[in-house]
Amino acid sequence: MSARSGSPATVLITGAAGFLGSHLCDHFLAQDWHVVGADNLLTGAARNLAHLAGDTRFRFLRQDVTKPFVIDDPVDLVLHFACPASPRDYLRHPIHTLKVDSVGALHTLGLAKAHHARYLLASTSEVYGDPQVHPQPESYWGHVNPLGPRSAYDEAKRFAEALTMAYHRSHGLDARIVRIFNTYGPRMRAGDGRVIPQFITHALAGIPLPVHGDGRQTRSFCFVDDLVEGIYRLATYDGLAGEVFNLGNPEEITLLELAESVASLVKTPLDLVHLPLPQDDPARRRPDIRKAQAGLGWSPTVPLREGLRRTIEWFASVAPAQDDRISA
Ligand SMILES: NC(=O)c1ccc[n+]([C@@H]2O[C@H](COP(=O)([O-])OP(=O)(O)OC[C@H]3O[C@@H](n4cnc5c(N)ncnc54)[C@H](O)[C@@H]3O)[C@@H](O)[C@H]2O)c1
Repeated sequence: MSARSGSPATVLITGAAGFLGSHLCDHFLAQDWHVVGADNLLTGAARNLAHLAGDTRFRFLRQDVTKPFVIDDPVDLVLHFACPASPRDYLRHPIHTLKVDSVGALHTLGLAKAHHARYLLASTSEVYGDPQVHPQPESYWGHVNPLGPRSAYDEAKRFAEALTMAYHRSHGLDARIVRIFNTYGPRMRAGDGRVIPQFITHALAGIPLPVHGDGRQTRSFCFVDDLVEGIYRLATYDGLAGEVFNLGNPEEITLLELAESVASLVKTPLDLVHLPLPQDDPARRRPDIRKAQAGLGWSPTVPLREGLRRTIEWFASVAPAQDDRISA
């Protein structure tokens, strides 16, 4: 993707102060883009962007994207990543979650249209719900409970996908959708309830690792650097308008195996506490990434143990913030 005549390309990233958004800011800056990062700091943190202070190519915009907003400077690409993403966060903010992927998606799509920019929506493997097809290809329509507590997130993303496709079909917007499967790495919040930060912070503190259910449910975990590279390719390659891609790591493990790996890397004895399974918790989740392999030339490269090692190193080096208390 090339910038407009002579000027550097500019990307607007919503959710820039979050886990994925902040890594995307770093990656686009490393590729010589100018970046406008918008965030209302609901679940993100200014410290995730503190290292960019003084970089004149980066501008932070404190903005709730469910409220109308404009960007006066030219924008070439919009990445809509604002949205509470951990189950703990979206169960705490269900109405906001529905708003950010409906009203917020509408505002960012309108902004992309006004700027003749390309658009990329951050969707999720949750659109497949508790899948009855395994692994999940992009052509699978999903198995979602529209009334359960998780529906605020799952249905918000399904609506955002429909709205994105409507803008593509009705307005010719060059829009793409990424369905992200579980991703982990530095800058996740210790207290956000997602399993990898939870296991790591508990193991580092020497307290039992909380396992929901019997721990035999499977997940596949993608290291953040791999995901960001896939997103960059999907956002910048030409000829992908109206396309949806799964991005994730197809290596599938049980939560018990994950707990064993974390405990062995932290060099602590494996000690578990079993908790009830949340409602509508998917039993299995694994991306079919053949489309990304063929269309983007992308596959994850960081093995789970290596990604876990880097993530543990990061968690061990940062003092938990006030809102990042370790909790089960
Ligand atoms: N991390 C994953 O494994 C994963 C998996 C699937 C999909 N996703 C999607 O990727 C995106 C980012 O996820 P993440 O893991 O970085 O989550 P995160 O909670 O760390 O980041 C989300 C960011 O959005 C911001 N935000 C929320 N509402 C906003 C609003 N109204 N206006 C402006 N900013 C707002 C938050 O403050 C936060 O900084 C989300 O859309 C999520 O659904 C993530």
